[in-house]
Amino acid sequence: MEALVPPAEALRSIPFNKPAVVGREFDYIRDAIHRGQLSGDGAYTQKCHAAICAMSGAAHALLTHSCTAALEMAAILADLKPGDEVILPSYTFVSTANAVVLRGATPVFVDIDAATLNIDPRRVAEAVTPRTRAIFAVHYAGFPADMDALAAIARKHDLLLVEDAAQALGSTYKGRPAGSLGDMATFSFHETKNIVSGEGGALTLMRPDLVQRAEIIREKGTNRSKFMRGETAKYTWVDIGSSFLPGELIAAFLYAQLEHEPRIRNRRLSLFQQYYDAFAGIDAARPFELPRIPDHTTGNGHMFYLLLESREARTDFIEFLKVNGILAPFHYVPLHSSPFGRSCSRTSGEMDITDDIAARLVRLPMFFTLGQDADRVIEVAARWLGGE
Ligand SMILES: Cc1ncc(COP(=O)(O)O)c(C=O)c1O
Repeated sequence: MEALVPPAEALRSIPFNKPAVVGREFDYIRDAIHRGQLSGDGAYTQKCHAAICAMSGAAHALLTHSCTAALEMAAILADLKPGDEVILPSYTFVSTANAVVLRGATPVFVDIDAATLNIDPRRVAEAVTPRTRAIFAVHYAGFPADMDALAAIARKHDLLLVEDAAQALGSTYKGRPAGSLGDMATFSFHETKNIVSGEGGALTLMRPDLVQRAEIIREKGTNRSKFMRGETAKYTWVDIGSSFLPGELIAAFLYAQLEHEPRIRNRRLSLFQQYYDAFAGIDAARPFELPRIPDHTTGNGHMFYLLLESREARTDFIEFLKVNGILAPFHYVPLHSSPFGRSCSRTSGEMDITDDIAARLVRLPMFFTLGQDADRVIEVAARWLGGE
């Protein structure tokens, strides 16, 4: 006989994300406290810089307190000013565009490529005007954008090419790591990402000529970094800047996570594959699509999503998961159609693919300790896809 009251296990809800301690986080935080420097740029920050350079292939790394902060630094380094334009996808998080708006410049949104969900280089080429200064490319779901095509456009028009690699640490494009594919790149260590420090981020630089100014911008517009290295006798205000660096406790936590980046990525990639194989094999009564994987890329298991038939189907699916104890959000509300976006940006070309994808995409739970709960997510999702 079936129990009328479901067992407690069935009622336990599966979150969309759950940060995990993966290694020596507590040891390193204790050690940082004992070392006696809690402000930024101490021993753990230096260790993180070296680890991020090794993983991203970038020549220089600077920890920031978020990817948002790193994007703001990128916009200052690009010398954006009122009247300037930056080309970027509308299908992204607000921070990519806010960084441009904070400089008084104008975001110019272009559509994404249906095959990759990343910015479409053909649309970028069409959007270039004499006012264009930079391209901010987002590596959606951790899969790098078509950076060779974007680099060719940037070279032709003398534009700065910035990777918003918030989701892409550990991913590659044509064998090269995200973070080494443009002039600079920005990473996020927010707790929803693969490698976390609560809030956190980094700016990586491939151009040596930008490094000194980046250090100054990050240190409130002063040459304090140079002073701390003994390269100048006193430090003073030399440029605009802000306090973009995190303290050592954050860096200590982050370093413990970075030490396990391959293990975290591999666990997430195997969850991605488990989801992929299970959904590829089901007999669906309701139409859906699997994630689109861009050519010449490897991912990092950051995100697993499904594309459903319509916005209504997605709402129904999310509700079905919710009543069965599974939290599944959607992503993103396109920026060109947001109330503030309409007031401070413009679009170039149609936004059909952005609008379509944004209405139909749903993300499934994906985190390091998901374990066997992935089976339950698959079982419940398959019931809905099967017509229940
Ligand atoms: C593409 C993209 N850029 C920037 C950010 C902002 O990252 P943070 O929360 O570290 O500021 C996010 C956050 O999810 C993102 O997805």
